[in-house]
Order: sequence, then C-alpha cells, then structure tokens
Amino acid sequence: MRILFLGDIVGRTGREAVAAALPRLRAALALDLAIVNAENASHGFGLAPEMARALFEAGADVLTLGNHAWDRREIVSYIAATPRLLRPLNFPPGTPGAGSVVVSLADGRRALVANVMGRLFMDPLDCPFRATEELLARHPLGRMVTAAVIDLHAEASSEKAAFAHAFDGRVSLVVGTHTHVPSADHRVLPGGTAFQTDAGMCGDYDSVIGMQKEAAIARFVRKLPGERLAPAEGEATLCGLFVETDDATGLARRTEPLRLGGRLAPTMPNRE
Ligand SMILES: [Fe+2]
Ligand SMILES: [Fe+2]
Repeated sequence: MRILFLGDIVGRTGREAVAAALPRLRAALALDLAIVNAENASHGFGLAPEMARALFEAGADVLTLGNHAWDRREIVSYIAATPRLLRPLNFPPGTPGAGSVVVSLADGRRALVANVMGRLFMDPLDCPFRATEELLARHPLGRMVTAAVIDLHAEASSEKAAFAHAFDGRVSLVVGTHTHVPSADHRVLPGGTAFQTDAGMCGDYDSVIGMQKEAAIARFVRKLPGERLAPAEGEATLCGLFVETDDATGLARRTEPLRLGGRLAPTMPNRE
C-alpha cells in the first residue's frame, strides 16, 4: 500500500497548499491512502467543519487532530458524524468522536489509522501505550488490516522513539506530529515499522512553528501577556512522509520524506 502522511496544516497558507497539491500528489505517487494532520488549520487553532470538508474533497482520506482538537467548538458535533476525522485515541472515555478508523479502499484492502497523543510536556491523558495496545489487539496487522498508521502527536522525541520501538513490527508507520519541525530520522525500524520523530508542518517556515515571528518573539522576550499569535501567511512548505508497505505483512518496505514549496530544501519520494 502506498501511503502519504502530511504534518500539521497551519493556517490558510497551509490549507491552500495542501488542497492544491494533494490531487497531483495522489496521481504522481500513485497513492492508495492520504492522511493529513489538520489541528492548526483554522488560523493556527483547531479545524472548522468547512475546512475539513474542503480537505476531504481535495483527496485526504483521513484527517487527524491533537491538543488543538477542540479550539473550534463547531467541530464537536461535526466529528461525531465524521468517522474519518480523528481526535486523540487516549482522550477520556465519553469524549466526542473517535481516535481510530478502519478505511476500506476501493479494491477491498483495509487500513487502520489512529491518532494518539503523548503525555510528556503535554496535557495529562490516559496512557498512550495502553490505549494503543488495546486498539491493536482488535486490529492485528496482516490479518484484520493490510496497513496500520499511527499519528503520534507529542512533544518529546524520547516519548516518540519509545512508542515507535514499543510497537515496532505491529504497525506500518508511526509518524510524529506537533513540533512542526521535520526531523531527519525517517527510517524503517528493525521490526519493519516506518518511523519519523516528526513529519513537520504544512505552513510558512518563515515563522516560529507557523506563527508570525514578531508576536512569537515578543512572548519570549517581554513576558507580557496578551501578545496575540497569528499564523504566518507566506508560501507554505508541505512536509510529510511517504511509506510503501508490503500487503502480505503490513510492514514498511521503504519510507521517504516529502518537502514541497516554500523555504525548506525540497525532496520528493521516488515514484518507482
Ligand atoms: Fe500542531
Ligand atoms: Fe499540537
């Protein structure tokens, strides 16, 4: 299965770049599945339902969220009716929406996608490891599903690496989100799970993790409350990770990063 994951969309420039590029990427990379983290799509904070609809129309199969899941309140009722929009799996029981979904492709293959949130330097939540164990017990790779992708929304690289190694060989891909900076450690782990500490954001990198520089700097320098953050609106760089999996095992054959447009050095996965 050929899978593309794109990291956190930040603001209008990120939304428009993803919507413009995704149809072309689906064709150019012969994608079976496209997953996009959209937790910062709405002016940096949350995701409005009409934005989710536009991203689905552009070719996203699944949208994931994170700590900004509920910043736009309208999403609460929308997510309850939209199984392909995920919030973190390890939110407390009773939280609206779901943390995972099984997507059926047109050819009958099935892919599990989950959104899990870390706890180090983040809000205290249920244990992400235990929540994932329970999920995978219900969806064994290579039997119930052909591929399994986990968006691990977390701050600390240590927690992300521990998580990826803990589930190595049981999922196709663990890809980090939330830091908005693409890491250079994408690889297939010894057990066959592809991993990248962070996919990076889809937003303007002439910024402080997607937000306009001046207000972000002032927050650190002046320590005055009320410096309002707004997304930077220059040309976005799309950042993500491509994975090709083996349908017999569900494990990764290869993984390559994608960076397109804007200010970062470009790279495109090999079509093969
Ligand atoms: Fe984010
Ligand atoms: Fe986040």
